[in-house]
Amino acid sequence: MSKKFQLPKGTRDILPDEQSCWKQIAQVIREITRIYGYECLGLPVFEDTALFQRGVGESTDIVEKEMYTFLDKGGHSITLRPEFTAGVVRSYIQHGMASWPTPVKLWNEGSIFRYERPQAGRFRQFHQFNVEALGEKDPVLDFEIMDLAWQFYHRLQFEKLNFQLNSIGCPECRPHYLKVLASYYQKHLNTICEDCRKRLNRNPLRLLDCKQDRCQPVIEKAPAIYNHLCKDCTDHFNSLQDYLRSTDRSYILNHRLVRGLDYYTRTVFEVWAEGIGSQNAVCGGGRYDGLVELLGGQPTPAVGFAAGLERIVMIMQHQNQNRSEHAESLIYFACQHTDAQKQAIIYVNQLRAKNIPCMMGMGGRSLKAQFREANRRKAQYAVIIGDEELENQTVIVKNMENGEQKILNGDRFIQDFDAEPGS
Ligand code: HAM
Repeated sequence: MSKKFQLPKGTRDILPDEQSCWKQIAQVIREITRIYGYECLGLPVFEDTALFQRGVGESTDIVEKEMYTFLDKGGHSITLRPEFTAGVVRSYIQHGMASWPTPVKLWNEGSIFRYERPQAGRFRQFHQFNVEALGEKDPVLDFEIMDLAWQFYHRLQFEKLNFQLNSIGCPECRPHYLKVLASYYQKHLNTICEDCRKRLNRNPLRLLDCKQDRCQPVIEKAPAIYNHLCKDCTDHFNSLQDYLRSTDRSYILNHRLVRGLDYYTRTVFEVWAEGIGSQNAVCGGGRYDGLVELLGGQPTPAVGFAAGLERIVMIMQHQNQNRSEHAESLIYFACQHTDAQKQAIIYVNQLRAKNIPCMMGMGGRSLKAQFREANRRKAQYAVIIGDEELENQTVIVKNMENGEQKILNGDRFIQDFDAEPGS
């Protein structure tokens, strides 16, 4: 027997019964990006590996362990995008977007690839809705980005979400905080895990992100970075919180929130959802004022976020929202033999030209079998063309919901049929 292929680990098929959720998400994305003034930017699925090494950061989990990197046939190192932001910045610089009206407001949607350990809500290929605004340092833009995220979930009728907020400072004040953090951790070397001992030297901010039980009490009592910010970062953070409070956008200050990508400065935030297990972050983002310069452009402040769409679909299915979509009416033509089928082809073409969904039985099956198919496809009407109907140029129209049957003139039936027939 030949081998039965299975999905690669960490990937999934998006079957038709899930499509209504994806369609709804796509609609909301289009609505909110339009009303907030963001334009769509399509990006390649792969980029030079060095872009992500430099942009996301050499010592991040993404670059160290999770990238799908390979040499192409020309010997170039290529990486399937593990996020959008670095690609957006590459495109911003390459197309001279600094001369566009500021802030440049862009959004993307598409597949992202990370070689992670798969579990519920965590995949190796997943989708992000990504939003970036470049060229403005005003904290009101941080607010707008968070507000856009809030609106996104609100329009998808999500409840039980909470916004986690922190500021991780800037190159001015962060080094000072890291010294304070390191000296605090020196006192707890015997308590913390092996990984954290390594982090202490390599990437001390990530100490606050450790999930090991033994490190939790140490993290809880660690000095909070937002109490060690420079004046500019403090003012920025306070203004953002003022905007959030004045619009009743509730949030939780979380000094442990440091994010897993190296480019962040000042504001970082995540949106957490209840009821979908441990992978509960449905959105993450923040400010990255140094990234454009790091990737070869002029110093340019920027802020953005990305929302993971699979996790959103999981919640929508949990809330049964996909059931609410109105099923489109379908007309199914059941034909007795080839001549009837020829007539059905003409009718079906005429209806499809009016954008009315219809299909016909095939394969020379009995009328009974065709009816069964019409039922399984949840057709609202079955149209039967038998010998007598063909001769008289009529059709039998059966309402599949109440079983009512009518004999109608074929051409007239097609002509008069609109989306709400039966009248
Ligand atoms: P991120 O936090 O790495 O940020 O990813 C954003 C969101 O993608 C997460 O909150 C989660 O919903 C989803 N996600 C991440 N990994 C997985 C996975 N393995 N399976 C399923 N969903 C996942 C970024 O990617 C930044 N580029 C966001 C950003 C944009 N910051 C500024 N601008």
